[in-house]
Amino acid sequence: MKILVTGANGQLGMELRNIARNVAAGAHTFVFTDVNSVEGEETVRLDITDAEAVRDMAAGIGADVIVNCAAYTNVDRAEDDVQAADLLNRAAPGNLAAAARDCGAALIHVSTDYVFDGEGCVPYTEDREPKPVSVYGRTKLEGERAVTASGCRHIILRTAWLYSPYGKNFMKTMLKLTSEKDELNVVSDQVGSPTSAADLADAIFRIIDGNMLDRQGIYHYSNEGVCSWYDFALAIRDIAGNGPGGASGRCCRIMPCHSDEFPSKVKRPHYSVLDKSLFKRTFGLEVPYWLDSLKACMERVLS
Ligand SMILES: NC(=O)c1ccc[n+]([C@@H]2O[C@H](COP(=O)([O-])OP(=O)(O)OC[C@H]3O[C@@H](n4cnc5c(N)ncnc54)[C@H](OP(=O)(O)O)[C@@H]3O)[C@@H](O)[C@H]2O)c1
Repeated sequence: MKILVTGANGQLGMELRNIARNVAAGAHTFVFTDVNSVEGEETVRLDITDAEAVRDMAAGIGADVIVNCAAYTNVDRAEDDVQAADLLNRAAPGNLAAAARDCGAALIHVSTDYVFDGEGCVPYTEDREPKPVSVYGRTKLEGERAVTASGCRHIILRTAWLYSPYGKNFMKTMLKLTSEKDELNVVSDQVGSPTSAADLADAIFRIIDGNMLDRQGIYHYSNEGVCSWYDFALAIRDIAGNGPGGASGRCCRIMPCHSDEFPSKVKRPHYSVLDKSLFKRTFGLEVPYWLDSLKACMERVLS
């Protein structure tokens, strides 16, 4: 199959590149695109806010599948940069969906737990009414709606708390801070499921490779299990050997705190747990436990 990947230099895109190199082994043809290039990776330039360029690219390569890994992901900045977030998170998925429809490709689009307000206390199923409380969440929800309204074959995967060896993410920040600081405060009143971008990329690849693209709809995918940012930080610290008795010989003390101790313009969901039952039932794929995946990712980073 011809697979067009957008936003290929981001966390998820880079993990899809790894799968193309290590797992797909020539079984499919991938075209990795992004607005900018990164050193050491082949990237075709494609700005997904340019509807004509998107249509030409999809038709030109004869795409069977488009995987959209691009998004405006800076949740804080989006509050002030509404127009840019709207263009990338709402309009651009519409461009990709129209291009997919016109050339007969399927679209795999990635969305977020931020479409919910996080006021719940049981895992969110796909049929729960979305209620975003941030510009990022609202624009991502509108992007989902643009995809579903387009009439293209589509699979929308809502994920949460993504981390990887690439770009900026909580795992990398905590790795650095716990190796430099003696003490840290981390919020304990927001819970969710840390998700390895490698696992999400693997799930996307299995859907494509297993010819499951006709199982259209919205699905939730995050790693299995639940923790707070505080628990996540402790796990990162301890795996890195920066905890009590750790291999680094130093110990960073981490204290739990409330989110109102970190004043922010953007309201973040307190409860971000996604129910993965529909995903597992539909695709017959297993979802790894967050701590196992964290260890696997950190092994790659630390080795
Ligand atoms: N990160 C999370 O915690 C999280 C949580 C839930 C859901 N998600 C969703 O998961 C998906 C993947 O997230 P991620 O963390 O891998 O994203 P990411 O690392 O921020 O990567 C996004 C990529 O898109 C590129 N991009 C920006 N503008 C573009 C444009 N106009 N055309 C084409 N590409 C463009 C970015 O390039 P530049 O960097 O050069 O701008 C970057 O390479 C997104 O849909 C996101 O909303 C993420």
